[in-house]
Amino acid sequence: MEPRERLICALDVDQVDKAKELVTKLDGVVDFFKVGVVLQLSSGSEIIPWLLKQGKKVFLDMKYFDIPETVEKVVALAAKLGVSFLTIHGNAQIIRQAVKGRGNTDLKLLAVTVLTSLDTTDILDLGFPCSLEEMVLYRAKKAAAYGCDGVVASGFEIDLIRETIGKKLLVVTPGIRPAGESLDKHKRAVTPKEAILKGADYLVVGRPITAAPEPYAAAQKIIEEIALVD
Ligand code: C5P
Repeated sequence: MEPRERLICALDVDQVDKAKELVTKLDGVVDFFKVGVVLQLSSGSEIIPWLLKQGKKVFLDMKYFDIPETVEKVVALAAKLGVSFLTIHGNAQIIRQAVKGRGNTDLKLLAVTVLTSLDTTDILDLGFPCSLEEMVLYRAKKAAAYGCDGVVASGFEIDLIRETIGKKLLVVTPGIRPAGESLDKHKRAVTPKEAILKGADYLVVGRPITAAPEPYAAAQKIIEEIALVD
């Protein structure tokens, strides 16, 4: 994979025009965009077909967690639309039915492990009596067993996942911060270089690109950092 193919830009903006402007500014340097809850709600059904029409790949990050039948239907819809990556949460039945919804399309199903804004204290606060690492590993193992293609995991747990599960799962890592930049409340942020060295396949980067004075240059710098260690 080319270094630039590993970069996914999170389009967390609340107006569709802002999203389109960013995509246009990043033309030639970013080809893969993450659409999450903020943009999806602010853009209605417009943004995904628009991105696909521009020749971009789409990561639909709605972190679906619903009854298995509903998840199956929404996954089938996303696959039909041409989405490349999609996130789900869930137990065996939810994940298996998501796999059924995806059918034999190219859509990659990613299971969320633990958000990068959380630490072990937050896990206990959520009612799970285990450490953050135990939870990440437990969820990653289950994701692989039930047929997910990959997981979303912070840079802090990539090596743990690789050591235990090997190369079987794609690892998509958000919470990426170039050295010296604000962590924006991420508790487990790593630099692009660290994430790649630890074994991430894809990096999800939002504000370091979208809030930069020069988004194109910021993305280019991250790709150069990836290329140094790729
Ligand atoms: O702007 P920033 O680079 O912090 O954006 C990170 C993106 O990754 C956000 O869209 C957030 O929803 C997502 N994320 C995630 N899973 C995590 C942490 C962040 O999907 N564990």
